[in-house]
Amino acid sequence: METFKIAVIPGDGIGPEVIDEGIKVLNKAAELDGSFSFDYTYFPWGCEFYNEHGKMMDDDGMETLKQFDAIYLGAVGYPGVPDHISLRELLIRIRKEFDQYVNLRPIKLLKGAPQTLKKDHTIDMLVVRENSEGEYSGSGERLFQGKPEEVVLQTGVFSRKGTERIIRYAFEEAKKTGKSVTSISKGNALNYSMVFWDEVFEEVSRDYPEVDTYSYLVDAASMFFVLDPGRFEVVVTSNLFGDIVTDIGAGIAGGLGLAAGANINPTREYPSMFEPVHGSAPDIAGKKIANPLAAIWSASQMLDFFGQEQWGARVLTAMEDVLQDGSTLTPDMNGNASTDQVGQAVTDALDKKI
Ligand code: NAI
Ligand code: MG
Repeated sequence: METFKIAVIPGDGIGPEVIDEGIKVLNKAAELDGSFSFDYTYFPWGCEFYNEHGKMMDDDGMETLKQFDAIYLGAVGYPGVPDHISLRELLIRIRKEFDQYVNLRPIKLLKGAPQTLKKDHTIDMLVVRENSEGEYSGSGERLFQGKPEEVVLQTGVFSRKGTERIIRYAFEEAKKTGKSVTSISKGNALNYSMVFWDEVFEEVSRDYPEVDTYSYLVDAASMFFVLDPGRFEVVVTSNLFGDIVTDIGAGIAGGLGLAAGANINPTREYPSMFEPVHGSAPDIAGKKIANPLAAIWSASQMLDFFGQEQWGARVLTAMEDVLQDGSTLTPDMNGNASTDQVGQAVTDALDKKI
């Protein structure tokens, strides 16, 4: 029996509520399969921990996390602790120090999911977002602060290594699945960084003659996400552009309650991290009405990552069953079920399918 060691950081607000449901589903998949299991270790890190200890995680937290196969995270951030502390000292620290340079965000309209677009579109893409550098490298300068001659620089950092590896990851993904790759950039205006990005895209594409490629400017791509999302399959883009277009993606594929993301360290030197895209939702925390589907979707991504793709896919099908049935959904999806009722419904649907 293979055992996957999971570090669970439920975090703040609705984080613990939705993570419980993801774990229910993971356990059910393991039980039904019988050839693998999960071993969870919980860490109480987050804003409550910060209020008590003055830090977001234990001093040896990163060392401790290294021993795990994956991290399952709810959400961090709560009123009272500034967001730049809570996010930077926990979430972003893990992404950076564990070299999770790929942010995988599936944008797929599940059967039965709330539809934003009027026309029936096929929406089934995988956005591969650069997660370690680019516009979010944190590099810049603020000169003559407060003076009339004040100047602020925010520098995009695009290394050859960083650009090539993310583009290559997208091509490998496309090759595996027989899909096309679309690069989203902005070479007409960002005359250094994005011209370079386009060159590297072109170079890497030569190694994959069997993969169809497209290249869009980010503004046009944003329009096509809404007007014709079916044209995108695997999408590769920079940190900032990926941040923005995946929110458009969430908007067209059922909203925040259904948006999941994985932070992957492809070399597997460090653990990868799976989390819903949404935050800690302080406005509904404790009411037991948070939608657990995004957290469950990220659990499905974790199953994929562990080579259990058939279970990853079955979890999505179980979610589709619950969405199509429509009788057990949380209030954000116009239902009146509680978080754990939705989690239970997905678990039951998984069971029924076997
Ligand atoms: P948010 O995603 O927590 O909430 C935005 C809106 O969506 C709220 O009205 C909330 O009730 C609703 N919502 C979010 N997730 C939901 C779910 N699963 N089911 C039903 N409704 C849901 O974003 P907000 O309010 O901007 O941030 C709140 C806190 O979360 C902040 O401290 C922020 O820094 C943090 N945050 C953390 C993230 C993370 O840990 N990855 C990501 C985004 C925000
Ligand atoms: Mg974002």
